[in-house]
Amino acid sequence: MVTLLGNPSKPDNTRVLLLGSGELGKEVAIEFSRLGAWVCAADSYANAPAASVSDEARVFDMADGNRLTQVIDEVQPNIIVPEIEAIATGVLAQAAAAGITVAASSRAIEICMDRERLRTLAAEELGLPTTPYRFAGNLQEMQAAVNTVGTPCVIKPVMSSSGHGQSVIHYPDATVVADAWEIAQNERRVATEGDVSRVIVEAFAPLDYELTVLTVSSTAGIECCAPIGQRQEDGDYRESWQPAAVPEETLQTAREIAVTCVKGLAAQAAQNEEECRGVFGVELFVLTDGRVLFNEVSPRPHDTGMVTLASQNFSEFALHARALLGVPVTAETLGLRREATTWASRPLIVAGYGRPEITGVNTALSVPTADLRLFGKPEIRGHRRLGLALASGNTQAEARARTQEIVNSLETQLS
Ligand SMILES: Nc1ncnc2c1ncn2[C@@H]1O[C@H](COP(=O)(O)OP(=O)(O)OP(=O)(O)O)[C@@H](O)[C@H]1O
Ligand SMILES: [Mg+2]
Repeated sequence: MVTLLGNPSKPDNTRVLLLGSGELGKEVAIEFSRLGAWVCAADSYANAPAASVSDEARVFDMADGNRLTQVIDEVQPNIIVPEIEAIATGVLAQAAAAGITVAASSRAIEICMDRERLRTLAAEELGLPTTPYRFAGNLQEMQAAVNTVGTPCVIKPVMSSSGHGQSVIHYPDATVVADAWEIAQNERRVATEGDVSRVIVEAFAPLDYELTVLTVSSTAGIECCAPIGQRQEDGDYRESWQPAAVPEETLQTAREIAVTCVKGLAAQAAQNEEECRGVFGVELFVLTDGRVLFNEVSPRPHDTGMVTLASQNFSEFALHARALLGVPVTAETLGLRREATTWASRPLIVAGYGRPEITGVNTALSVPTADLRLFGKPEIRGHRRLGLALASGNTQAEARARTQEIVNSLETQLS
């Protein structure tokens, strides 16, 4: 018998187990908590951001199926909300079969964490436009795939996120191809598979810009938020803004792709007798010739969607919690706030080693319309997102310049 150290004064209606307690998880925990749910925040390290705003925190390796099963048995959640990809997904499927709601369905989690399954579903079953691609399971197959797809092309492990293990090949030279294979194998996600990760070889798309269309699946059906513009660098998002100024035709196509994608995932989940509920971050490429391609989708709030903390009446985190609690999320719920025309977000990314201490908050918050999230991460090793600047403006340029000013006002000391 395990005693849970929850908040005893809180009505114990819905129990939520959050798997991953980073900055996105922290906002999800707050939103569930606001609606009366009891939240347990799990991560592989102590004092993760969501731990400080949850009723209970657990520290364990979520890719370890036995440990995850044990924690689910102890916590007895009604809803499991994965925030990261490196989770023992077989256990999530078992939990779903046992009647626990898994966001956004265990089937969607499994498909979206595997680029091969996702791309096959999107391009070959749903007919969504994507970059030309091939898969490869060894170096020889990869060389053949590079020859077929042509250069420049991008190599990605099918099991990876945040740009890890990716490289761009400009010439189909054997040494370059071998190096890319090595990078993919060394930086892929190891937890959930064997010795080798298959790779996807994708034609390098001539990007004009990138969009995220947050798409919400709830008891009211599937609805899209206003498009989010974003800038990526080294596998991380550096800036996002909403609404992105896009031609009406592009917006229509982007929305159609997003809805088709989420419907396709829902149909997959239905085969498993699961509902597919929550927020999906559909990533799209808009090419220089105006075509819109599907890139990938996160079956959870998206990092570029953090701009909705300022821009929408209900942030992507609030929408995720509502959809999962069975609240109908209608088109009206997805509205932008009225007090500005455009909003921007910019993460504070710091490189180094040690415990961070951030100063300059007063100056940062004196920038017009400024808001700030400091995530409270206890330590950094390498480079890490420590906070988020939010601002609005009369133009996109003004909002983006303000977030830059906010970030420039902050100083981080490492000890
Ligand atoms: N085929 C491509 N052509 C051009 N640019 C690409 C291509 N694939 C990826 N990129 C660039 O790299 C970024 C990251 O790629 P992708 O979204 O596939 O990987 P990821 O590891 O899942 O990243 P994240 O977890 O940050 O979303 C894209 O947003 C885009 O800027
Ligand atoms: Mg991506």
